[in-house]
Amino acid sequence: MRGIRRENIALIGFMGVGKTTCGQYLARRLGYDYFDTDQEIVKHAGESIASIFKTRGEAAFRALERELVYQTIPQLRHTIISTGGGLGANQEYVNILKQHALVVHLYLPAEDIYARVKGNKSRPLLQTEDPLGRIRELLAQRLPVYHTAHVEVTTQNRTLPQIALQILLNYHFHAARRHRKK
Ligand code: S3P
Repeated sequence: MRGIRRENIALIGFMGVGKTTCGQYLARRLGYDYFDTDQEIVKHAGESIASIFKTRGEAAFRALERELVYQTIPQLRHTIISTGGGLGANQEYVNILKQHALVVHLYLPAEDIYARVKGNKSRPLLQTEDPLGRIRELLAQRLPVYHTAHVEVTTQNRTLPQIALQILLNYHFHAARRHRKK
């Protein structure tokens, strides 16, 4: 746990688990800034994620994520960082996030994710004949990296205040532990 900057919390996890909603709520509760990697990319690129994937390709989107991880995230303080589902599936990026934030993995079973995202056209990776199959496949590939977060919190059948409370208790606990070690 050494080296965590207590000033930030980063949320990682699969599409549809609630990273954005939860991140905005936590930022309001703590009076912190809110930084969303997807929103930043859309803002800088001047086009939607679906459009970036279509016109420039997934590799171009991943390069923009990489830039945020290396250039921008290390500068953030007192910020809740919400990440795209693919960013937190990259072990190199999670290791960097862990140096700058308490990293929290939000999770749900594949069926719950499917229920939340079905019919939504904004996620290019799920525009397939069999989105549930795709979710299961991607989730299986990604979970080993998501599991390397500092803390794991389910969002299944839980209210936003309950999820936030569990994250904040961990945040304060880790901060206090760090303080004692000094
Ligand atoms: C992606 C997740 C999306 C977005 C992009 C790719 C992924 O973010 O970054 O569509 O690879 O899982 P959300 O997790 O916020 O949906």
